[in-house]
Amino acid sequence: MENILKDEDQVDRWEETMFLYESALKQMTMKAEMLNDEFVCRYRYNPIEHIKSRLKTADSIVRKLKQDGYEVTIDNMNTRLSDIAGVRIICSFTSDIYQIADVLERQEDVTVLYVKDYIKHPKPNGYKSYHMVVSVPVYLTDGRRDVKVEVQIRSVAMDFWASLEHKIAYKFEGDAPEALLRDLKSCADMVDMLDNKMYSLNKAILAIAEERRKDRDPAS
Ligand code: GTP
Ligand code: MG
Repeated sequence: MENILKDEDQVDRWEETMFLYESALKQMTMKAEMLNDEFVCRYRYNPIEHIKSRLKTADSIVRKLKQDGYEVTIDNMNTRLSDIAGVRIICSFTSDIYQIADVLERQEDVTVLYVKDYIKHPKPNGYKSYHMVVSVPVYLTDGRRDVKVEVQIRSVAMDFWASLEHKIAYKFEGDAPEALLRDLKSCADMVDMLDNKMYSLNKAILAIAEERRKDRDPAS
């Protein structure tokens, strides 16, 4: 934060701000981990494959504020940016995504600020993911702060596509050849088919398992 970090008070404020985002990030990550553990404990099923979390670097914060036409200040970073703390939850099946989102949204200390459902409304390039920006309370010695965290929830297949698309599209800085964009979109369609196939396979497997259980134990 070039100009901000010249002033000692501002350095303290920057450090406290980043500490708040880090604390909020830990909380949301922990919430997702605990949810998964509860599913394993209750249903012997893990809806979450893995969780990634990251804090935006000072460089990216400055770049993003400038890119969006805002002055580089701590106030602007708090009001204009929503993804300084980011958690990505990678689920097994598409059905798990909405279930996880729903449970998180209903937790009392989680306030949903807004949702962008790129699963129901995929981006034109094929990007799919469920995004929500939430705020969670962080308790300091002198009181409570509400801190924003961006939560992205997607399937393993959606994550696979998004990671590679990011790498490929990034190289072209928004100026990728048409043919490449078309290919990426058709890969997104394949990923979608794979997700649907896996979902119906899983449903069929669960139904067979349930039938066999009933055959073994007709009284239940
Ligand atoms: P920024 O994209 O951060 O400017 O914010 P926004 O207001 O456009 O939010 P949006 O919900 O569209 O995107 C937030 C984040 O989602 C991005 O930082 C990426 O991590 C991810 N994302 C959004 N669109 C795409 C996409 O087309 N491809 C990939 N790979 N990731 C995307
Ligand atoms: Mg965007």
